[in-house]
Amino acid sequence: MLLFLNLLLELARILAADGGSHWTYEGAHGQDHWPATYPECGSNAQSPIDIQTERVTFDSELPVLKPHGYDQPGPEPLSLHNNGHTVQLSLPPTLNLEGLPRNYVASQLHLHWGRKGQPWGSEHQVNSEATAAELHIVHYDADSFNNLNEAAQKPQGLAVLGILIEVGENQSPAYEHILSHLEKIRYKGQTTLVSAFDVGGLLPPELGEYYRYNGSLTTPPCYQSVLWTVFHRKAQISMEQLEKLQETLFSTEESGPSKLLVQNYRAPQPLNHRLVLASFIPEGAFYSTGEMVGLGLAILFGCLCLLLAGYFIARKIRRKRLGEQKSVVFTSSRCATSEE
Ligand SMILES: *[C@@H]1O[C@H](CO)[C@@H](O)[C@H](O)[C@H]1NC(C)=O
Ligand SMILES: [Zn+2]
Repeated sequence: MLLFLNLLLELARILAADGGSHWTYEGAHGQDHWPATYPECGSNAQSPIDIQTERVTFDSELPVLKPHGYDQPGPEPLSLHNNGHTVQLSLPPTLNLEGLPRNYVASQLHLHWGRKGQPWGSEHQVNSEATAAELHIVHYDADSFNNLNEAAQKPQGLAVLGILIEVGENQSPAYEHILSHLEKIRYKGQTTLVSAFDVGGLLPPELGEYYRYNGSLTTPPCYQSVLWTVFHRKAQISMEQLEKLQETLFSTEESGPSKLLVQNYRAPQPLNHRLVLASFIPEGAFYSTGEMVGLGLAILFGCLCLLLAGYFIARKIRRKRLGEQKSVVFTSSRCATSEE
């Protein structure tokens, strides 16, 4: 009887560990299989997307985003956690964004990356090009909801900033505040504390130029509740920093066989009927092939109009002169008739 109960408990434990909550990027539980367990992952407004700059819509009303409190996240240390899918830093709600329809406050940030020797690992792409990694800073609508979980399933409940990361010459001191602690949380489930730092340093140097669209969480359960902002400018880290990100963490627990936490990015999802707005006119947007032909035609048409206008004006002037002569004749002839 006791043995049977033990067996039952063991079975329950295995089922709980593997049931539903288990997902990966590749393999039997990989992204192609997410919709089977998480139906919203198969829905029609998913993230990330491949942003085609010639198809975006310039919106002059999109304001500059202003992060408040990012430089001073308070005296408390922040918790850095390896959840087996990514490295996540918790953020206090004193960090908030100005320039969105409601007051969105920060909850956490995390990263997506590739693997060693692979130059891409971002989730969003621009003109089908990925960068080395991507930072997501997750906020929720604090005007309407009490916490992240409450907001996560509601339309526009969340606002996520997407920062594309590329490799540059210099080490980024801001990213080092995260990367230098990875050794302490190599295994899934581990957490450490890092002293508060200027989180704004993780953002690109210029925040005025960005893309905006309605999308989803890029991991299960893929709720379509995210107002996305993807910045045009990129953040830079050094090659050493990128390699630290790619080679330090495991997606597995300390006990048992270990597996590197790599390639934790989702493939771009169909845009379907969604609009991607841009706060700026992207380079190449105006000079796309289609518009180039349009521009050419417009210039040709404009020239033709000018030519025709010139011709008619010239004709009119000539006629007027002739007319003046004629009218002289006419008046004289008319005078002649009236006299008759
Ligand atoms: C996102 O969806 C909301 C609600 O449907 C809509 O008002 C808004 O214009 C959409 N934003 C974009 C960028 O398409
Ligand atoms: Zn993410």
